[in-house]
Amino acid sequence: MTEPRAGSTAAGGVNEDLRVLVLIPTYNERENLPLIVERVLASVPTADVLVVDDDSPDGTGDIADKLAANEERVQVLHRTAKAGLGAAYVAGFRVGLAAGYDVLVEMDADGSHAPEQLPRLLEAVGHSDLVLGSRWVPGGQVINWPKFREVLSRGGNLYTRLALGINLHDATGGYRAYRREVLQTIDLSAISSQGYCFQVDLAWRAVQAGFRVTEVPITFAERERGESKMSGNIVREALLRVTEWGVAHRAAQLKGLVRRT
Ligand code: GDD
Ligand code: MN
Repeated sequence: MTEPRAGSTAAGGVNEDLRVLVLIPTYNERENLPLIVERVLASVPTADVLVVDDDSPDGTGDIADKLAANEERVQVLHRTAKAGLGAAYVAGFRVGLAAGYDVLVEMDADGSHAPEQLPRLLEAVGHSDLVLGSRWVPGGQVINWPKFREVLSRGGNLYTRLALGINLHDATGGYRAYRREVLQTIDLSAISSQGYCFQVDLAWRAVQAGFRVTEVPITFAERERGESKMSGNIVREALLRVTEWGVAHRAAQLKGLVRRT
């Protein structure tokens, strides 16, 4: 048998030679965590799971420890306080990179991102460096979201596309697969985005570093249990930062133009 090349796909589309780690950040997700972990393990038999818990007051961390004790494919990273989604993911990426995983996946704990669609993302990571699960491309959809969240997400993505001049339709989404090279190249210690604009931050850095970023359609379903951690501060941080990045990018473009003429 010939060795499959990195990125080539086996039957079913998922390259089984790639070591995959699914990162699941949690803050008060005790009702959701067991089911989502079970679904991930069943959907991708070759993937491991790392729960990144910020010392959830509801005891999610203890539940994660029990899951890990019963299943060697599950690990837990305990952090001491709620420090935002971005910081949780950066800490998880470091652990995954150090452990030698080839592909690092971001997935919410609340069931909004269906683990059954993960093979679709992993298939696409065979021919790209960063795969975004996208709600806003043909075939993508959102179920049960309040109207204001849909408007916010569509508007935020339109603004991001225009401000940064990137051709991505869901740069704010949180269901993604990164090849390790992307996370090794990006300076993770330079990432200060705390809330969900962390997602835009990483997509933007990947694009600027010349990586191939692709989108595959996903169905995002609103959580049925627990609460969203979205807040006004998270929206304000995103708006401010995307604007700053956009202005800096346009200024650099303009400088290049002036120098050439
Ligand atoms: N460890 C940790 N620390 N986890 C966190 C924190 C934190 O400070 N804040 C949120 N989380 C976890 C939640 O427990 C959940 O598993 C996941 O991050 C997403 O949080 P939600 O609060 O459910 O997000 P959402 O449904 O409002 O937002 C979704 O859409 C956003 C906009 O498209 C997510 O998919 C976001 O990633 C996405 O940016
Ligand atoms: Mn959610």
